[in-house]
Amino acid sequence: MSTTKETRKVTIPTLRAMTGRAEPITMVVAYDYPSGRIADAAGIEVVLVGDSLAMTMLGQPDTLSVTMDEMLIFTRAVSRARVRAMVIGDMPYGSYTIDEEDAVRNGLRFMKEGRADAVKLEGGENVASVVRRLTRAGIPVMGHIGLTPQSLAMLGGFRVQGRSAAGVEQLLRDARALAEAGAFATVVEAVPAEVGAAITATGGILTLGIGAGPHCAGQVLLWHDVFGLYHGPSPKFVRRYGEAGALFAEGLTHFADDVRARRFPTEEHTYDVPEVERAAIANVVGQFIEGARHCE
Ligand code: KIV
Repeated sequence: MSTTKETRKVTIPTLRAMTGRAEPITMVVAYDYPSGRIADAAGIEVVLVGDSLAMTMLGQPDTLSVTMDEMLIFTRAVSRARVRAMVIGDMPYGSYTIDEEDAVRNGLRFMKEGRADAVKLEGGENVASVVRRLTRAGIPVMGHIGLTPQSLAMLGGFRVQGRSAAGVEQLLRDARALAEAGAFATVVEAVPAEVGAAITATGGILTLGIGAGPHCAGQVLLWHDVFGLYHGPSPKFVRRYGEAGALFAEGLTHFADDVRARRFPTEEHTYDVPEVERAAIANVVGQFIEGARHCE
């Protein structure tokens, strides 16, 4: 495995400096301690604990049902694993739209209980005042525009966005509104490459693209998509870098075969009793067997 020797913590200035040097940022959506460790050691700059965990980890059909408490369990696990990467907690559906006080309370929970470095929320112009409120409370915010899965019902499904002039104009306004409200970056999901490029050029904000073409400041993929662990269909923007699902299935088939054929466990996987206790233990076991016979 290729690992990074770099130990300096990734901060917002780090990401801005990378963009200044035209170095693409990498972000992975991961949810637990082992994946957080591997992503960090591989030199990924940002780990998002996405609300997609409702689908990838909890088997839900969409992201809507995941709660703050559930998000915090996963966020804490990833934060514990992190040495260098920036960890971002994804604010779940309903956790930032009831009112701004509630949004700040939930944002602070991600920072204090989840040990996140920032939060992400979905929306642009429509959430600008919440973003302003969160950043004033000292909570760094990443936006999310384009395909926003928490608005699935309104978007009519997982659909590519920004395919009309009006749609593109709204996306450009959304990116600008997020920047003006103090967000340090935004995810841009499922838009044509030219639209991703236009948002990156004009939005005044770092863009992390997932299905938004090569011109964004960085690229995002989900752990489960990268390694073939998601049971549903893959979006067009996914590239697989490993077949962990197939690897796990093959490993477990071998385990089951070995157990059934009594090839596992062998002596090397088995504990021994100390020699000095052997006779006494045999005696105790013998008495129990004898006692059990008398009870029959
Ligand atoms: O929850 C998630 O996985 C996300 C990514 C699509 C960026 O928000």
